[in-house]
Amino acid sequence: MGPALLALAALLAGCGEEEPPPHLRIADADPARGRAVILERGCGACHVIPGIRGAVAWVGPPLVEWSRRSYVGGRLPNAPENLIAWLRDPQAISPGSAMPSLGLTEREARDAAAYLYTIGTAQPVPAGMVLGPREGGPRPEARLRPRGDQ
Ligand code: HEC
Repeated sequence: MGPALLALAALLAGCGEEEPPPHLRIADADPARGRAVILERGCGACHVIPGIRGAVAWVGPPLVEWSRRSYVGGRLPNAPENLIAWLRDPQAISPGSAMPSLGLTEREARDAAAYLYTIGTAQPVPAGMVLGPREGGPRPEARLRPRGDQ
């Protein structure tokens, strides 16, 4: 495969399971297990989450492009330890937040966080790039449709 084809293949594969950049990697965590945790815990009852079947709810913020987000819950910089702490106990970080503390274990929170950081890593939007009124990023296909492939 030539470089152009490889790039195309990478683009087409770009839905969910990419490697996060080094500062967003979580040692010993397993994104695949994290996806299972997210399904089991019903996060999709409140969030749009790419790659999670049925996660199409708008109670909380959509978790699209998560690895590009600057803050967790509008309180803490979006870094692994902060996200893990949020997933374990959002009420401790933001008392009165509409996200309930769901009692995730450290392991579950680490895995779920690792999954969330695989979202939005395929094609960084260049700094200063202007998006159209309906665009969330430069991808050719709509990204909020529920996926039937899991
Ligand atoms: C009952 C609804 C509900 C459930 C269930 C829920 N969340 Fe949330 N979540 C929210 C709301 C509402 C917010 C916004 C909270 C805030 O900013 O104070 C939020 C915020 C977040 C954020 C930060 C979003 C941002 O833009 O800063 C993440 C990440 C997150 N939730 C992940 C999860 C995961 C993973 C699960 C499952 C383990 C989950 N949530 C379950 C309602 C929910």
